[in-house]
Amino acid sequence: DKVFVLNGPNLNLLGTREPEIYGSRTLGDIEAMVRERAAELGLGIEFRQSNYEGILVDWLHEAHREGAKAVLLNAAAYTHTSIALLDAIKAIMVPVIEVHLSDPGTREPFRHLSYVAMGAVDTVQGLGPKGYILALEKAAAL
Ligand code: DQA
Repeated sequence: DKVFVLNGPNLNLLGTREPEIYGSRTLGDIEAMVRERAAELGLGIEFRQSNYEGILVDWLHEAHREGAKAVLLNAAAYTHTSIALLDAIKAIMVPVIEVHLSDPGTREPFRHLSYVAMGAVDTVQGLGPKGYILALEKAAAL
């Protein structure tokens, strides 16, 4: 089974981006952790990042066409703005698990609304990179 791990805008800068909020691990480090756990769980991984909203929409459609088992989606700032991502999540048969490194609910009020959460089957947030592993384990158990 394949799991898509889709990362949105500015997550390519992890490691140097606001490390007091997001930690010092790079997205490459997170990818390596995810791949290691996925191998143990017998899952294939498509791990991607884009700064473009429409590409994330296209990748959600691709996950559906490919018959992916689940999508882990850290939509970053698009979480709080993107009806297009919500509609894509609702359009596909693939369960989406929302992931955030930080806990947006304890940050600025504009991060409290999540369009992604309205379509996602589950959310893992505030656990840093480990949240990706927990989300992967939840995906494996679906
Ligand atoms: C984030 C939280 C979002 O509010 C923010 O815009 C991000 C990262 C997180 O992983 O904590 O870019 O999704």
